[in-house]
Amino acid sequence: MKLYNKNILWSFMFLLAGAAGVTIQYPFLSTCAFKGSTVTLPCSFTPRKSFSRDGREIPLKVVRVRWCKNHEICHSTTPSVFDSNSTTNDPGYEYLGDLKGNCTLRIRNIKTSDEPTFRFRMEADDSAGHFTNRTGVKVSVVEGSRMRIKSSSDVTELRGGQSVSLQCTSPFCTFYHLNITWTKDGHALPETGPALQLGPLTSEDSGNYTCGLKTNSGSRSEPIRLQVEAEENPSTLPLIVGGVFGFLLVLIVFILVFLLIQRKRAAGSRAARGEMELKRDDNVYSSVLPAGDAGHQRTETSQEDDGISYASVQFKHNKHKKKLEEEADSIIYSSVVTKG
Ligand SMILES: *[C@@H]1O[C@H](CO)[C@@H](O)[C@H](O)[C@H]1NC(C)=O
Ligand SMILES: *[C@@H]1O[C@H](CO)[C@@H](O)[C@H](O)[C@H]1NC(C)=O
Ligand SMILES: *[C@@H]1O[C@H](CO)[C@@H](O)[C@H](O)[C@H]1NC(C)=O
Ligand SMILES: *[C@@H]1O[C@H](CO)[C@@H](O)[C@H](O)[C@H]1NC(C)=O
Ligand SMILES: *[C@@H]1O[C@H](CO)[C@@H](O)[C@H](O)[C@H]1NC(C)=O
Repeated sequence: MKLYNKNILWSFMFLLAGAAGVTIQYPFLSTCAFKGSTVTLPCSFTPRKSFSRDGREIPLKVVRVRWCKNHEICHSTTPSVFDSNSTTNDPGYEYLGDLKGNCTLRIRNIKTSDEPTFRFRMEADDSAGHFTNRTGVKVSVVEGSRMRIKSSSDVTELRGGQSVSLQCTSPFCTFYHLNITWTKDGHALPETGPALQLGPLTSEDSGNYTCGLKTNSGSRSEPIRLQVEAEENPSTLPLIVGGVFGFLLVLIVFILVFLLIQRKRAAGSRAARGEMELKRDDNVYSSVLPAGDAGHQRTETSQEDDGISYASVQFKHNKHKKKLEEEADSIIYSSVVTKG
């Protein structure tokens, strides 16, 4: 009788607090799900390997696993959402785990609008191995809530080369193990994680971004607009234009300086030529002089330049012309003689 009471007590303690070495872990204690969506409750457990009775070590084996909704212990006849011993489980609750250590549960098309808490229980071939972790996972079912994009940058106008991270969150609760779809200007992006990493940014990254749950199109967020001021392209263009203008300016200055020098040089040589022209005038004038004097001038000026040699040619021509005129005169004269 005394031993029996002791066993009951131990069983009760195992039931509530668990025996040494047995654990059930829920990676998160609460999650959100959109009404009608699929939610996965990750879970892992470590069964008790053995127990001692009457000084003997008796091995334990898990023979049954269950998930209950809103029940603290989930034992005996408590209604469950999943029972490995049942053949009439709700197909909406899919046990992805096993009897060895994985107790993950997937809930499809979640409907309840309250906040159910789900708890996992394992039962071994002896009640010494039974255990429920009463902490459980609370699921908040939300409806008509839209996701929101949180940017790592306060500003939406960014510079090329920067990086930015967009986080897809819900204003009301935290989602786990989500398939997120991202769009940019209405086109789906390949990324499916809750965070979208962009960068180093180029102007190509400018656009309107949205995120939403893959399973729930109603969750699509308001678009967030990113404006990337491309640093390279528009900044090299003014640089090129500036360079070209600078070059042209330098070229124009060079041309002006060159022209100025040319003009100065031309003015200088004109002044020199002016002197020569004066000399040439002398020569032309001298051509009227008798041949002897002209010949003297020619020898004197022929050493100087072309202008003067031209004068000497003119001189020769004049001389020739004079000769012709003399001949013509003689002809006229002769004709006069004939008439007379
Ligand atoms: C019960 O679950 C919680 C959450 O995963 C965990 O922190 C705790 O250790 C678990 N307790 C036992 C006895 O497994
Ligand atoms: C559940 O199934 C296991 C074996 O599959 C069996 O040993 C156990 O007795 C069953 N439990 C109930 C309550 O039917
Ligand atoms: C449990 O099973 C699920 C589904 O098969 C899997 O995604 C998960 O990674 C498993 N967990 C562990 C701890 O192995
Ligand atoms: C995400 O989507 C992929 C492909 O559709 C699917 O295989 C995967 O199970 C989904 N993951 C979750 C957590 O829903
Ligand atoms: C992005 O959204 C703004 C309004 O928020 C709109 O004016 C603009 O045309 C959109 N851009 C594209 C590429 O769709």
